[in-house]
Amino acid sequence: MAETIDTPAPKALPFAHTDLLDTAELTAKEIRFLLDQAESFHEINERQVKKVPTLRGATIMDCFFEPSTRTRSSFELAGKRLSADVINFSAAASSLKKGESLRDTARTLAAMGTDLIVVRHPASGAAAYLAHELEVPVINAGDGCHAHPTQALLDLFTLRRALGRLSGLKVAIVGDITHSRVARSNLLAMRTLGVETRVCAPPTLLPAAVERYGCRVFYRMADAIEGVDAIMMLRIQRERQGGGAFPSLREYAHNYCLTRSHLALAAPGCVVLHPGPINRGVELAHDLADGPESRILDQVTAGVAVRMAVLYLFWQQHGSRQ
Ligand code: NCD
Repeated sequence: MAETIDTPAPKALPFAHTDLLDTAELTAKEIRFLLDQAESFHEINERQVKKVPTLRGATIMDCFFEPSTRTRSSFELAGKRLSADVINFSAAASSLKKGESLRDTARTLAAMGTDLIVVRHPASGAAAYLAHELEVPVINAGDGCHAHPTQALLDLFTLRRALGRLSGLKVAIVGDITHSRVARSNLLAMRTLGVETRVCAPPTLLPAAVERYGCRVFYRMADAIEGVDAIMMLRIQRERQGGGAFPSLREYAHNYCLTRSHLALAAPGCVVLHPGPINRGVELAHDLADGPESRILDQVTAGVAVRMAVLYLFWQQHGSRQ
């Protein structure tokens, strides 16, 4: 481990939260502060020795009650790069299978001297429920169709790096908005930051009164994409749909798959984002996923830095008191 480490100095933090449940609870100042912190960690992640002692002595419990590749591995890496002890708790191999309730499981895990709990759960509201039940800070890593705050923060981090600013940008979010916690958390954070948002989907994949998130609504890709600085494509969340939202994947792809010809309508330098996992050929053409406009792997890289910043800020606030 490197000896001389320049992690941000602990001082009065312009960030005070007991839990991180959604971006709705964050002010513009807090989001910007968190993204600035993440820049320091991004730099650490580019070093040969990608490890700092900042969270030495902390115990983080990553509790995943739903499949995950990116979020789970990036929370684990974030904790390890900060020198915390990280336990990965997987629902599939747990006492939940023996009938234990979520509350009892979580209280058991919290009772092991845990300092932070990261939770992903298929039920909307599960993270808020655990935050209410537990003394330990809870970080929401995605709850049902509700919220995914660290994904929105890493998307913002990626956009800010790619385009140099956030306020005033025009961003189109396209796909299964109804079932997307990523879309909700992004729309809320972007409204706070003064990003102009548009959503685009068939009417059956748009939540009722979606305009309340401050976005403009479009049903045709060509209209939604005209003049935008960034396009965020979303996966069709088939595991959350009852079916019948559109006649066939083929028809959906015909109308809503982003192709290179769409990009000609966007602003020059427009970038393409996707939280993953991608269904190539359904929401995103192959060549775009791997093309020069794609920031999809940058999003993955940003995820580690942003989650390091989140863990760091919660440890700074709560760790020393336990
Ligand atoms: C998203 C999720 O799980 O909400 N993915 C992610 O966290 N990287 C989006 C999705 O599953 O489509």
